[in-house]
Amino acid sequence: MTEQDKSSNVVWHHATVTRNRREAMNQHRGGVFWFTGLSGAGKSTLAHYVEEKLYQKGCHTYVLDGDNVRHGLCADLSFSDEDRKENIRRIGQMSNLYVQAGVIVLTAFISPFRSDRENVRKIAGSDFHEIYCKASLEVCETRDVKGLYKRARAGEIPDFTGISSPYEEPENPELEIDTESHLEECADEVFKYVVKAVDL
Ligand code: ADX
Repeated sequence: MTEQDKSSNVVWHHATVTRNRREAMNQHRGGVFWFTGLSGAGKSTLAHYVEEKLYQKGCHTYVLDGDNVRHGLCADLSFSDEDRKENIRRIGQMSNLYVQAGVIVLTAFISPFRSDRENVRKIAGSDFHEIYCKASLEVCETRDVKGLYKRARAGEIPDFTGISSPYEEPENPELEIDTESHLEECADEVFKYVVKAVDL
């Protein structure tokens, strides 16, 4: 049974406070800015830098971050291929709700599988912007901010992205950022892109 089958007797309720009205009040559009890349590539750092700059311009924003979401909404999920798929499905749906609420949502998930990211694109359509944070495994592993690569190499963490689990690079991301150095400059580049995309 699919997810739709299980909720077949449910009827959509239309809101009077629509996305358009919310966006008019906010004075910017909503959108999903989907940062993808290896652990340690700078996704969260970039998303939060950009959020800070948007906040200072009076924008309505929210960062959804793998490390945080996996403490709550997705605490029941592991790092198997199947659970990562479910993780991204939930975040994709949630991001779309944020967009309907007129919010600029910045997501920081490894989201290693192309098909899962493309499924989010299907949900959010032209509101979806894939931002590839490109940094080599060597650089991410040298950073090893959380000490997880070291543990993964020691065989203590199974299915670790880049080591014992794959990462599929985006083929046509809206934006590709070289995050091996100068993250603040990267943030300026992403910020400029977001400003344009949300009609700020
Ligand atoms: S995703 O693959 O399902 O998109 P997600 O972004 O939510 O992953 O979580 C990644 C974070 O979980 C990493 O930044 C890292 O801190 C932590 N983590 C713990 N175990 C793993 C693992 N096996 N592979 C990758 N990241 C892991």
